[in-house]
Amino acid sequence: VEETYIMVKPDGVQRGLVGEIISRFEKKGFKLTGLKLFECPKELAQEHYKDLQSKPFFPKLIEYITSGPVVCMAWEGVGVVASARKLIGSTNPLQAEPGTIRGDLAVQTGRNIVHGSDSPENGKREVALWFKEGELCQWTPSLEPWLVE
Ligand code: GTP
Ligand code: MG
Repeated sequence: VEETYIMVKPDGVQRGLVGEIISRFEKKGFKLTGLKLFECPKELAQEHYKDLQSKPFFPKLIEYITSGPVVCMAWEGVGVVASARKLIGSTNPLQAEPGTIRGDLAVQTGRNIVHGSDSPENGKREVALWFKEGELCQWTPSLEPWLVE
């Protein structure tokens, strides 16, 4: 089944938005399979965002992501990758639609409070990068029959 890596960035943690952000994915009906508060080492941030290595903002991005604890999450569900990106909204919060996390709660690209994997392949890659095997939980939510037929 499809999985995605969602992360509350340091600004989201500092601003007290962890519960609000988790709640959006919970209410939607996706399944949480991993969750931790974590101080991200520089090397991990660089590996996570390696596709953006050549961008002028890369050093600032690494500084931002490592500036305080982040909340790491793994979520599962059919279509979860694209749906989570929709719930999160556009990269630039000023362009993100109202009703999305960034559209409702942020104002700047460099402080856009949450990350979501951009493809099912990257979802798998990022969940494996941020979580050890024993940190993930496979479970069956009792509400599942009320969410999927
Ligand atoms: P993520 O879910 O965090 O991967 O965001 P995204 O997929 O919407 O955007 P992208 O992968 O292109 O960029 C990753 C992150 O780099 C963004 O979420 C921003 O935090 C940051 N970023 C992207 N573009 C800029 C920029 O032009 N300036 C700054 N300061 N940060 C940027
Ligand atoms: Mg991205």
